[in-house]
Amino acid sequence: MRIGVPRETSEGERRVGLVPETVGKLSRQGFTVLVESGAGRDYNPDEAYREAGAEVVEGASEVYSGADLVIKVARPSEDEIEKMREGQVLVCFLNGPTFPETVERLARAGVTVFSNEAIPRTSVAQAMDALSSMGSIAGYKAAIIAADSLGRYIPMLSSAAGTTKAAKVMVFGVAVAGLQAIAIMNRLGAEVFAYDIRPETKDQARSLGATFLDSNDEREEENGHDEFVEYEPEGFAKLMAKLGFHSFAEPPRDKYIVEGEEEETKAAEEEGWSREKLGRDQELIRRRLPEMDVVITTALVPGRKAPTLVDRAMVESMKPGSIIVDLAAESGGNCELTKPGQTVRHSLVDIIGPVNLPSQLPIHASQLLSRNMMNLVNHITEKPDGDAEGEGDSGPRLALDFGDEIMDKTCIAHEGEIRDERTREALGKTRGEAN
Ligand code: NAI
Repeated sequence: MRIGVPRETSEGERRVGLVPETVGKLSRQGFTVLVESGAGRDYNPDEAYREAGAEVVEGASEVYSGADLVIKVARPSEDEIEKMREGQVLVCFLNGPTFPETVERLARAGVTVFSNEAIPRTSVAQAMDALSSMGSIAGYKAAIIAADSLGRYIPMLSSAAGTTKAAKVMVFGVAVAGLQAIAIMNRLGAEVFAYDIRPETKDQARSLGATFLDSNDEREEENGHDEFVEYEPEGFAKLMAKLGFHSFAEPPRDKYIVEGEEEETKAAEEEGWSREKLGRDQELIRRRLPEMDVVITTALVPGRKAPTLVDRAMVESMKPGSIIVDLAAESGGNCELTKPGQTVRHSLVDIIGPVNLPSQLPIHASQLLSRNMMNLVNHITEKPDGDAEGEGDSGPRLALDFGDEIMDKTCIAHEGEIRDERTREALGKTRGEAN
């Protein structure tokens, strides 16, 4: 089986689908790898690919015509689709629901398409989850951009001239990108706050040093202290505690679990927080936002426009010189004023809307992506029995099985058919609007 790695052509894309290290591994598994000259940019020179066992060819046409399986980063352009043929396999970031026409064109050409965004977020699929690898890079880079753009220190620092306060950083969305942003900001010495609508993220954010903004905690603080009655052991428990057996001094569960609290916690975990609680959280965030020096937003609802979390009034409530880094810029933005790829200044607050951040860290992004790609290739291919080295014609071959969850979800087009429902729906909508 021949794997092709073309040089990326989309603007600003600096990553490559496979790095030499992975090419070496795939070559040893019996794959032949064709790499377009210059695909690895200035950090993975042609020579490194040759040493790893790849055949370096001039021009994309040779890669497309020679490969059975093409590994790319960005979705292919029209020109690139024209170079593809029936039965060929393509693995790349395609985002079918956003670019349904590209998927349709590929399906019409008879290309079997695997989309990195469609990999299910399960533990089995983790090693192939390129979206998580890239999300983590985006979160890291968002923190660095914010620190670099802010006109003040992030940590608390003392000097003979006085002590600066640590910057306050608010992170919205506590998934891969958000957690990484929290961790980096915490290491830089910021006072970090976080918020997500999923209850289970509260502990995750706290474990990385952030304070989770939760209106329930505020209520406890407001009501709590006056009404709080210290538990005093009585009778047998008091006697045992006096004798030094302090475990007897702990209150029995029914003494410290408020009636209904257990059910509420369980319900929150199973179904998420109530609308009323989410409303109170919004109020709390609105109230606390003016304290923040940096806001990093990473909130996304799969397949939909990103939710607006920071509106114009909230931006206007922030201090002059504050920074917002909106990672959801490409999906419509979490801030009302975000413009993708631009920095907008509004009431002396800079709103940065970076796009394709992983491409700004191409060495590690390509390394991680490459490993995800190799794991996916290994998952969709098999080596014939009794040929461990997989040499010659009896080398690895495609082994599609749509009974397998990963293949079923990730393969969005096959034999002329668009397999992904959301892509089909998006295509229908585009047609409906056009009519
Ligand atoms: P994810 O989809 O795993 O997580 C999004 C999180 O947002 C979830 O935890 C979700 O519960 C939360 N969320 C949804 N609605 C919310 C709301 N109203 N308030 C608070 N939280 C809410 O995404 P992941 O992998 O962490 O990536 C985060 C973002 O970064 C995505 O928007 C992704 O598109 C973007 N990204 C941007 C890049 C860039 O270059 N700008 C590169 C890579 C990812």
